[in-house]
Amino acid sequence: MNAPSPAPGRGLLRFMTCGSVDDGKSTLIGRLLVDADLVADDHLAAAIRDGKRYGAREGTPDLALLLDGLQAEREQGITIDVGYRFFTTPRRRFIVADAPGHEQYTRNMATAASTADLAVILVDATKGLLAQTHRHGTIAALMGVRRIVLAINKMDRVGYDQRRFAELAGAYRAVATRLGLADFVAIPVSALHGDNVTRPSAAMPWHRGPTLLQHLETVDTEPGAARPFRLTVQGSIRGEAGYRACTGTVLAGRVQPGDAVVALPTGTRGHVARIVTADGDLDRAEAGQAVSLCLAEAIDIGRGDVLAAVDQPPHLTDQFAAHLIWMDEAPLLPGRSYLMRLGTAMATATVSELKYRLDVDSGAHEAVKQLGRNEIAFANLAIDRALPVDTYDECRDTGSFILIDRSSNATVGAGMIRFPLRRASNLAWQRFAIDQAARSAIKGHRPAVLWFTGLSGSGKSTIADAVERRLLALGCHTYLLDGDNVRHGLNRDLGFTDADRVENIRRVIELAHLMADAGLIVLVSFISPFRAERQQARERLADYGFLEIFVDASLEECERRDPKGLYRKARAGALKNFTGIDSAYEPPEAPEVHLHSVETTVEREVELIFEALRRRGIVDDGRGSAPT
Ligand code: ADX
Repeated sequence: MNAPSPAPGRGLLRFMTCGSVDDGKSTLIGRLLVDADLVADDHLAAAIRDGKRYGAREGTPDLALLLDGLQAEREQGITIDVGYRFFTTPRRRFIVADAPGHEQYTRNMATAASTADLAVILVDATKGLLAQTHRHGTIAALMGVRRIVLAINKMDRVGYDQRRFAELAGAYRAVATRLGLADFVAIPVSALHGDNVTRPSAAMPWHRGPTLLQHLETVDTEPGAARPFRLTVQGSIRGEAGYRACTGTVLAGRVQPGDAVVALPTGTRGHVARIVTADGDLDRAEAGQAVSLCLAEAIDIGRGDVLAAVDQPPHLTDQFAAHLIWMDEAPLLPGRSYLMRLGTAMATATVSELKYRLDVDSGAHEAVKQLGRNEIAFANLAIDRALPVDTYDECRDTGSFILIDRSSNATVGAGMIRFPLRRASNLAWQRFAIDQAARSAIKGHRPAVLWFTGLSGSGKSTIADAVERRLLALGCHTYLLDGDNVRHGLNRDLGFTDADRVENIRRVIELAHLMADAGLIVLVSFISPFRAERQQARERLADYGFLEIFVDASLEECERRDPKGLYRKARAGALKNFTGIDSAYEPPEAPEVHLHSVETTVEREVELIFEALRRRGIVDDGRGSAPT
């Protein structure tokens, strides 16, 4: 969620505007800029010219045109439409983020809100509070925006009626309280005529509060320096005799020479000796500044580490609860592994539990098994190692993350950490005297996982059965995990939705991992239709011999065989989500063994698998191909 970051300093307010063109949003911002004498002349000239072209009254700028041409920001495949404008008044500098309210509103609004101190939510006085008003408040609250201005617009169209204003402001107060938005101000405006935008309105003498601009100029902003010190390390330099420096940006708080700091995740401590910049040494650095810190001690720091105040360190955890915004066409599936970028660190992450989906219009919590595009959920996540995190309220930068699809490399989600889960810190990995090597030694062969994938009826189980018989005859220790069988016990709670299949395979990967650790050659015979989970298997089981065996039979052939009569049922509509019919099968791209089961015999297929096992030194049955 990138936004322009200006130099830090006092008096900067970042705000966002929420509403649609119909509510008068563009007109309001245009009015703010024009009346406050802030529009660069060329902008104004263009607006007048274009206004003419689009039939606006002669010589009057169509204010809405000032704000169009929003920059499209392509962030790894995700289009974020947020326009940023910078302006200054004698009292303050401003950055206004404007997210168009169309269909992809969630990610646009969330992006704009992720850096905003305040949100101006527009309400059309003739229409009142709408579902979108609630949506805007909900997303703003979720993204940590604590200050809200309810700009009740088009007051001219309701006769500047004080009662209508009071009614809407009162109704919104209840909403704001529910969302925890304590700092809330309502202002009656007419963007079209300029009432209470920059000038107090003669038509609404009953309004005693500030104009919109007055409020924006005087509202308090969060003093970033009051937060605990955080710096993400971009690089480190080791100099002579204990000299150690690291470069990075101060994300929160402030730091000065002499401060005690801790580097995470290592937990090593040190002291700041100097703060170096291109313009000389500083006696203090604050949030937003890029600096080099020289440390008094030669402690180990690397890229991706977080340097923090010793007395208020971040949480070091591998599990946490977070709000997630999903941006991808393909749904989020719990149990699937994604890449997570958290600060400058990268981790592998899975959603371990989707707690609920948040209906942003009503605020309702709904039970779901997966999350669709532009939907928001509250979820538990697990990452592959403990990393330093803050809650989003404590620090937006170290408390937020993005999720990346492992095969397409596209950004598919963004999240805000709410609290660390303590489960992990109460568990230790027990070391026992007997390890995998010892278990393998008495078995006389290496452990391995033979992962059979293919459509139902392709012949996976038949081939796996024949392979296991031959392994056993050679004295190998084996176990065959079969989809139908495991689904009778361990996975009896799972069905055939995409989400359930992901969980099915996740558990089987863990089971195969334990069995391989026991020293066995494990034969896994599951449809395992998705590339992502087979990739996860490959990575998780990388310590053992791993063979992906694609039992390739066409859908027509499997349907012709139909050993269990399931294709017939599926075609008749009596069986939903059947692989190959109305549920996807993603064929392997580079399996270790590719069997074309129609063209060959089972014996030949077994032989092909044994050749691969010999090549990898997993079995040595004295038949050629010495172990490598
Ligand atoms: S997987 O997709 O989650 O890997 P798994 O291998 O465990 O599937 O189970 C597949 C077996 O379940 C099939 O061989 C078939 O006997 C049975 N089955 C029942 N319903 C379905 C379905 N909708 N899709 C696929 N297989 C099904």
